[in-house]
Amino acid sequence: MSRRLLTALLLALALVLVGAAVGLLLVDDRPWWSAVAGGGVGALVAGPPAFVLGRRTTRLTGGAHAQAVSGLPLVAHVPPPGSDAADARRADEAFRMLRAALVPAPGPDDAPGLVVVVTSAAPGEGKTTVAAGLARALARAGRPVVAVETDLRRPALSGALGVPGNPARGLTAAIVGGVPVADLLIEVEAGLRLLPAGELPPNAPELLGSPDAARVLRELSASGVDVVLDTAPLLPVADTRELLAHPIGRRTVLVSRPGVSDSDELRAAVALLPDGSGAVLAVSGRAHAPRSYDAYLRDGARV
Ligand SMILES: Nc1ncnc2c1ncn2[C@@H]1O[C@H](COP(=O)(O)OP(=O)(O)OP(=O)(O)O)[C@@H](O)[C@H]1O
Ligand SMILES: [Mg+2]
Repeated sequence: MSRRLLTALLLALALVLVGAAVGLLLVDDRPWWSAVAGGGVGALVAGPPAFVLGRRTTRLTGGAHAQAVSGLPLVAHVPPPGSDAADARRADEAFRMLRAALVPAPGPDDAPGLVVVVTSAAPGEGKTTVAAGLARALARAGRPVVAVETDLRRPALSGALGVPGNPARGLTAAIVGGVPVADLLIEVEAGLRLLPAGELPPNAPELLGSPDAARVLRELSASGVDVVLDTAPLLPVADTRELLAHPIGRRTVLVSRPGVSDSDELRAAVALLPDGSGAVLAVSGRAHAPRSYDAYLRDGARV
């Protein structure tokens, strides 16, 4: 039994006992039914909140909870998009944190570009937002990036990067038709290009798991750019599992959204990551960081 469920039951029991005691105190001669009536009122008061608390037993409560459940290092808290200037500063900093966790220290050899798979357990946890923010952060650090719309069910990366619509030709044309990737890239900003999904196929898992998909990714990475893949969620469809099976040197960012995401689903998603995924965890949503962090960011911005 989880701690939250136990707490709910203990609270409900306490309210029933208090109700019974109040019932006994209120009625002269303290008949047995006064305790039962008081206990009944206590149960009525305690029931709905205990039910709500008990039902939410598997919901993730925060970044630390997500980290404990996943066993992955939590490297970034990404705030909700598009709010105020403070949120924008926090988001910029979160994506820099993510970049710092993924980019290896410069070595003597020319390292090939990073391949980063951004995914999550379930729909709507913030994958696309994180993929777009990470791609921008890498480009702003002077690393040429190609962001790839690898979610062939709900491609949304072009929108997140501010590029209108999904053109007819994109990743699927490179995989199926052998169209050179260089002909399909769309300029987003200095150092950042987008490979859009293109025409959506009826067989996304087969396409993404094909040797041709591996070829396209290898070609991109061999050209020395960082490749950021925005993908479909891991649990509802096989697309991202197929993609992760390719033996391309890569890192994985697992996105989770405390307050919304389910801890059992997060655990199941981690279990699907193959060995050597180099996975890190990023949480999306509002985090309650100490005020001093914000003051530090604000003061830093004035310098
Ligand atoms: N860091 C965040 N905190 C809170 N809300 C967010 C955050 N990032 C994105 N959202 C909101 O959550 C919704 C889903 O975001 P997003 O499209 O990035 O998720 P997704 O995991 O890619 O979804 P899908 O599984 O449909 O592809 C959007 O409405 C977005 O505005
Ligand atoms: Mg998405």
